[in-house]
This record gives sequence, C-alpha cells and structure tokens, in this order.
Amino acid sequence: MQERRLTTGAKRILVAGGAGFIGSNLCEHLLALGHNVTCVDNLLTGRRENLRAHVGNSRFRFIDADICDPLNIEGPIDEVYNLACAASPPSYQADPVHTMMTCVQGTLNLLQLAERHVARFLQASTSEIYGDPEEHPQREDYVGHVNCTGPRACYDEGKRAAETLCYDMLRSGRVDVRVARIFNTYGPRMRPDDGRIVSNLIVQTLKGEALTIYGSGEQTRAFCYVTDLVRGLVELMTVAETPDGPINLGNPGEFTVNRLASLILSQLGVSRPVRHFPLPVDDPRRRRPDIDRAQELLAWTPVVPLEDGLKPTIQWFRQTLAAGASLERASPPQFVVAAARIAAQGAT
Ligand SMILES: NC(=O)c1ccc[n+]([C@@H]2O[C@H](COP(=O)([O-])OP(=O)(O)OC[C@H]3O[C@@H](n4cnc5c(N)ncnc54)[C@H](O)[C@@H]3O)[C@@H](O)[C@H]2O)c1
Repeated sequence: MQERRLTTGAKRILVAGGAGFIGSNLCEHLLALGHNVTCVDNLLTGRRENLRAHVGNSRFRFIDADICDPLNIEGPIDEVYNLACAASPPSYQADPVHTMMTCVQGTLNLLQLAERHVARFLQASTSEIYGDPEEHPQREDYVGHVNCTGPRACYDEGKRAAETLCYDMLRSGRVDVRVARIFNTYGPRMRPDDGRIVSNLIVQTLKGEALTIYGSGEQTRAFCYVTDLVRGLVELMTVAETPDGPINLGNPGEFTVNRLASLILSQLGVSRPVRHFPLPVDDPRRRRPDIDRAQELLAWTPVVPLEDGLKPTIQWFRQTLAAGASLERASPPQFVVAAARIAAQGAT
C-alpha cells in the first residue's frame, strides 16, 4: 500500500451520497470539525435542501454526479466516505439494476479514486448483508442468510459485493479500507416518503392516518440515532490501525415494531387504528447488532436512547410536513413513482 500523507488539522474529505439522510448529517459534522468537504451525489434520493446551510461556505462544494460514472476530482483528497446508495426498500427496488451497479461499479470507481489520491476509504455497508439472520444478535463473523434472487437482493447482494471489492483492494495493498455495517438509523433529514418503518409510523401518526404494520408487528429492529452513527463513522475512519474486518455500528437496544409504534403514539399523545399487511418477501424477523468490536476497537457506544431520539425526529417530520414537502409533491422523484407501483404489487 502506498504511504499515506500525514495530515494535521483540516482534511480534504469526499462524501459520496452526502445529500442523503446520513450523508448530510455527516457533512455537517465534518464541516463543524473544520474539514473541507466535497459532496458527490446524483440526488436520486438525496436533496439539495439537506445541504442548504453550507451554500456559500468556502470549505464545502457539491458535485452533481452518479458514482457509476468514472469520477475525477482535482486536488488532494485525504478521506473518501461512500454512502451513495438508495437505502430504503421502495427506493432501492425502484431501479434494482442501478442499485446493484451503484454498489459494484460505483464502489469500484470510488475505490480507484481513493487509490489514485492515496486516500483512506470508508464503505457504508449494512446489516442487510446478514439477510434474515439465523444467529442473534448478529456478530461480524456471521456470514449471513441472504436470498440472492429475491426483490431485496439488488441491495443486500450489491452491498455484499461492495464489501468483497473493499477487502480485495485492502488485501492487495491498494487502499486503506474500513467497512461499517450500519443497522437501522433514524433522525432528522429522513424523507417522509422513503417507506422506512420510523418515517412511515411517524408520518402516518402526524397525518391522523391508520398505522401500517407488516406481519404481527412482533418482528424486532434496533434503532440508532443519527448523531451516534455519524460519530461511529468518523471514529472508524480515523482509528489509526485498520480493523481486520467490518465493524457493526448500531444501537443494540432491541424493539418490536409494535413497541416502536406505541412509543410514537405516546410521545404525540394520540391513538390510531392499526392495519396489518403481510410481511414483505425476505423481511428479517430479528435484528440486533453485537457491537463488541466497535466498543473494543473504536471505544464507540451509542448514547441516545430511542425515547430521546424520537423527539427531534418527530419534530423534523412535523416541520417538513407543515412546509408541505412541497417540492416532492409538485414533482415526485422517479423512485417515489416506481415505489408506489411496487407497493401496489405488495412487494415492499
Ligand atoms: N439509514 C439506514 O438505516 C441505513 C442502514 C444501513 C446502511 N445504510 C447505508 O448508509 C448509506 C446512506 O443511507 P441513507 O439512509 O442516508 O440513504 P439516503 O437514500 O438518504 O442517501 C443515499 C444518498 O446517495 C445518493 N445516491 C444514490 N445512488 C447514487 C449514485 N449512483 N451516485 C451518486 N449518489 C447516489 C442519493 O441521492 C442520496 O443522497 C447508504 O449507503 C445505505 O446503504 C443506511
């Protein structure tokens, strides 16, 4: 591996997918630390609005580009974070071939960019690589239980292939790579229409609609607040010694979907009827990260309990709905139109 430049103070950091939910929170955090940030995003599921606060900041620039296309960036780069990929089932299933190519060709393009710039690389992988897990909680050495031909495969298998590329580049000494396996994350800047469990339940409650729950609602998830996650990503990127494998980042508190729904209802002080629908194909029944490695190698642990993180998240959705989410409604993005079609087919 080429010698990495030692930099002190402000770094030059590229964030692919920086206009999205987690990416925009990461850009904000990195800018607050005094770094220079270049965000690359094709605005498939991200929004310029998420980056509005940085317009005019000389340490920030935005490049509207698809990572599936070769990318050339002028000037030095110290770190590359790859968060570019639609992350909710309706959005990644809207154009599954593009999702797969984003994970494979897009990740390769960014790895090669990192290699040329002798930059450190962090891949945003996912708990979805464990599929519908047969081991609980999920440790990093669990190899997963994924259906490679199902409707979720473009994302699950795409992310698995991206991890393969990362570790081949690391093993051959070409790029210093770190891989974060991110579990369900929530917080401000999630899209109201992205079809994830937290956004669905909050938006339905705020709109006075019946709550949609797939299956019995006794399936479990672990929810990590976005500021905890962003801190974990930065710790993983900056830890001196390259970990010898992926690191789970998530909150190990495990909640049923029914419990999440009742927490949201009680925070808003309302009740709503519930409509149950069949579980989506390949939907995981249990999900909880084992974060021993993150605690040991990064001294990282999430500190925001679900009850506390829900408050600013509900506030964010309240403001976004009050503002009318006007732009999307006037001209819904391509993935929203396709997602409506998929939902009508019962495939989400
Ligand atoms: N949010 C979660 O709970 C979660 C869990 C596990 C993993 N992740 C991973 O974290 C990353 C960010 O997730 P998020 O929740 O912020 O999703 P998001 O959809 O809000 O953000 C993804 C961003 O990537 C951009 N993008 C998508 N395809 C692109 C392409 N080909 N070229 C350039 N930009 C592209 C989108 O426009 C968007 O801004 C994703 O890689 C996702 O797989 C998220």
